[in-house]
Amino acid sequence: MADMSIEQNLVQLRARLSGQATAIALEWVEQTGSTNSDLMERLATLDGPYVRIADHQTAGRGRAGRVWWSEPESALMFSLAWPFQVPAHRLTGLPLAVGAIVCEVLRGQGLDARLKWPNDILLDHSKLAGILIESSTTSDSPIVWTVIGIGINLSLRPSLIERIGQPVASMAALGIDRAILLADLFNALALQLQEFARFGLARFTASWNALDLYRGRAVMIVEHGRTVLDGVALGIDDEGRLKVDTGAGIVPVLAGDVSLRPLPPDAGK
Ligand code: BTN
Repeated sequence: MADMSIEQNLVQLRARLSGQATAIALEWVEQTGSTNSDLMERLATLDGPYVRIADHQTAGRGRAGRVWWSEPESALMFSLAWPFQVPAHRLTGLPLAVGAIVCEVLRGQGLDARLKWPNDILLDHSKLAGILIESSTTSDSPIVWTVIGIGINLSLRPSLIERIGQPVASMAALGIDRAILLADLFNALALQLQEFARFGLARFTASWNALDLYRGRAVMIVEHGRTVLDGVALGIDDEGRLKVDTGAGIVPVLAGDVSLRPLPPDAGK
């Protein structure tokens, strides 16, 4: 993409920002390794919220050390560096809150986007968007910097889908305007991250649970390819733990290296 159209996108995007989002510094590049890595390296130089958008990443990163594969403009890819004035332990639920915020924005575009614990965004049971949040603290500052990386599939060629190796969905059919979608996302994030700083995940638990695709469904919790628990998913608690009814009791599961998979409808019969 020529620099000129990146500039035009930025102008359109800035014109659509409102409220606290107007204070976010923005940059949009054609290509980089990883917008998350770029901002993590630059945190010490930032003096307020900052967004880096890339049309392509050559070393995109996902949760649990996975790769986020992309091709030029296959996905909307950006990272938002956001400072929080709260103790680091109060941020454990942030990935879930961000999942709910992004999911609501996508639903506002007319998509039936839903959540899969802890924070994948699905469309038609396939992954539409992923979120990777990293943070950094120093002993001499009360500020915890977070880097909120978000990738939303826009248009995926078959060769890329094959490389991703899992069911994926995209917004291709919608002919989405990237600047408009980004502006909606930044407006929502700027507002809701402040709510999160004040009230924590409890402010988002009900909306997260309402968007949960697997609530009431048989699921298994998998760690390094091994099933460690199965039962019926009951949604999250205010700490972001997934409540699983195993039949012998309700077990709260912490997000970490574990992931959720739906059980086939006839499993266990
Ligand atoms: C996941 O689903 O595992 C998280 C994917 C996060 C991808 C985004 S794309 C922008 C930002 N930069 C990265 O390297 N990763 C995140």
